[in-house]
Amino acid sequence: RIGQPTKLISPITDLNLSVLEKSKQLAAWTAVDQHVKPEHRVIGIGSGSTVPYVVERIVQLGAEANAERVFIPTGFQSKQLIVSSGLNLGDVDQFPTIDVTLDGADEVDRELNCIKGGGACHLREKVLAEAANTFILVADYRKNVEFLGTNFASGIPIEVVPFAYAKVLQNLHHHLGCPQASLRMAIKKAGPVVSDNGNFIIDAPYDQETMKTPYTIMAQIKMLTGVVEVGVFCHMARAAYFGNADGTVTIKW
Ligand code: 5RP
Repeated sequence: RIGQPTKLISPITDLNLSVLEKSKQLAAWTAVDQHVKPEHRVIGIGSGSTVPYVVERIVQLGAEANAERVFIPTGFQSKQLIVSSGLNLGDVDQFPTIDVTLDGADEVDRELNCIKGGGACHLREKVLAEAANTFILVADYRKNVEFLGTNFASGIPIEVVPFAYAKVLQNLHHHLGCPQASLRMAIKKAGPVVSDNGNFIIDAPYDQETMKTPYTIMAQIKMLTGVVEVGVFCHMARAAYFGNADGTVTIKW
């Protein structure tokens, strides 16, 4: 179901933010206001450029509200964010049950399936999504799509163990219908992108027809030996919040 865009009187007063940044902030703040409950003690914090606004809003709840809470990161970036914001840091091996995880997304379809891994964090992100009683997505308006693969052209992020990358690429090219799958390279092609787990990332752009059944292609890719995790999350999110350019927020649930 897609909620009607909800007109919110924006609590955002920072006039220096661009429209895009404001839309991320609006999504994040609204999601925190609706899903972080006073009784929550363990909170998962995702990765990307929208998540800092999640943390910003959580910090605004006050030191007292957060004193008894522990925050679980999905990677190096969110770990830094948690620590620099003065919040208590924990890990998922200490807290395998999380009250709520809030995370960004590269695209979210009409059934709340999403692509994640634009920042190469999708293995830990999926663990925290799965560990959470409630998994909430926050994103700007560009991520709100009918079908996956509409705007996010680089395709499905796939984390692979380094020594298997060429074999997995070959499998994708010749057996799983993705001739354009490629190894993700760092800026200026300085070498492959390496995840927080020491692995490589392959990006697999599939045609729209394939992306209409994301679970099927996700499961096929995951079966390839050497693949650690696939950045397609099917039916995991309880709701997705999208900030719109006009200051409204669309909620899909
Ligand atoms: C990182 C992710 C991010 O959550 C995703 O890329 C969205 O990032 P942003 O909020 O910057 O658009 O999956 O692996």
